[in-house]
Amino acid sequence: MISVGIIGGTGYTGKYLLEFIKQHKNIADYTIYANSSAGSKLLDIFPELLGVIENKTIQSVKELSYAHDLYFVSLPHGESLKYIPTLLAKGIKVIDLGGDYRLDTKKLYDEWYGFEHTSANLLSQKVYGLADLNSSKISGSNFISNPGCYPTSILLALIPLINNYSDNIISISSVSYSGSSGAGKSAKTELLLSELDGNVKAYNINKHRHQPEIEQELTKYGMKFPFAFTTHLLPIARGIYSTSTIHLNSAISEFEITEKYLNEYANSIFVRMRKVPPELKWVVNSNFCDINISVKEKTVVITSTIDNLIKGASGQAVQNMNRMFGWDDSLGIQKIIEN
Ligand SMILES: NC(=O)c1ccc[n+]([C@@H]2O[C@H](COP(=O)([O-])OP(=O)(O)OC[C@H]3O[C@@H](n4cnc5c(N)ncnc54)[C@H](OP(=O)(O)O)[C@@H]3O)[C@@H](O)[C@H]2O)c1
Repeated sequence: MISVGIIGGTGYTGKYLLEFIKQHKNIADYTIYANSSAGSKLLDIFPELLGVIENKTIQSVKELSYAHDLYFVSLPHGESLKYIPTLLAKGIKVIDLGGDYRLDTKKLYDEWYGFEHTSANLLSQKVYGLADLNSSKISGSNFISNPGCYPTSILLALIPLINNYSDNIISISSVSYSGSSGAGKSAKTELLLSELDGNVKAYNINKHRHQPEIEQELTKYGMKFPFAFTTHLLPIARGIYSTSTIHLNSAISEFEITEKYLNEYANSIFVRMRKVPPELKWVVNSNFCDINISVKEKTVVITSTIDNLIKGASGQAVQNMNRMFGWDDSLGIQKIIEN
């Protein structure tokens, strides 16, 4: 049995971490740390969890204890840097849900996040926690950087293809759609219902922070061709839908490509290969990533979909914790599978 702390446990991703660790049989106790809500009761923040969680007092992150075996860190960009180096120096395990350690170089942080990374030495120590593909590295790690939500949907959809057919690929374009919870719970005018309702728009074209993250990881699997990434906001709260179009030099059959994916994910209970393009509704409130492959001559279209708050954040983080401790992949997230 272990004890966990959640730093930033009162946000959108924090709520699901809380639910999952409450139903996890190997977690004995937990503490929630936050900022402006410190001193409040958990049920004042999450009244919907009455009967599910204890009504604990939220602790201030300024008085962080180092008493837990593992900390989930779920803070806005730049904030994790203040806590993670000390936690790791004390030999405590960390899973960071934010982006502060996902990229591999200090230069990429200057360029894409606009801050100077103050613990760049740790960038090479983290394991990028794409739970369904990096499993052996995760098992031996003390420090997991949980992937971003868009990257999770795209990397699971593209890595088996690139790993097997990199030399045959001319280019890839991924077009993704997200609901508004991807931006967290703090108020923003563009996320008001009156702005979102009846609307769809592209945003952060060529400057989304998830682009270097996706490119970094795809390069590790052999990407050496142009990659384009475009994000859109949908008038919904939850979910990510990504459509990736791949142009090939020479045709490969749909059957052959699909077989490669079925082999790759044979032991991954949370990746489901679909015979038809998946629908967002099939994965919302679950830890699944659903993928379909469709091939016409030299064009491959791969559709993939996840729940951004679960597979794209807290569900995958719990899966990573299970791997770190050598537990069954689905502990704590079983109920979500049954939904
Ligand atoms: N939302 C998603 O779909 C998603 C998916 C993948 C990864 N992520 C990443 O996960 C992290 C959290 O996202 P979220 O959506 O859960 O955000 P959120 O809903 O905005 O919650 C942020 C949390 O951080 C705390 N916090 C804010 N400023 C702080 C500060 N200066 N010091 C200490 N605590 C502070 C908040 O506490 P108070 O309320 O008490 O201020 C709250 O608990 C972000 O890095 C995000 O990029 C999010």
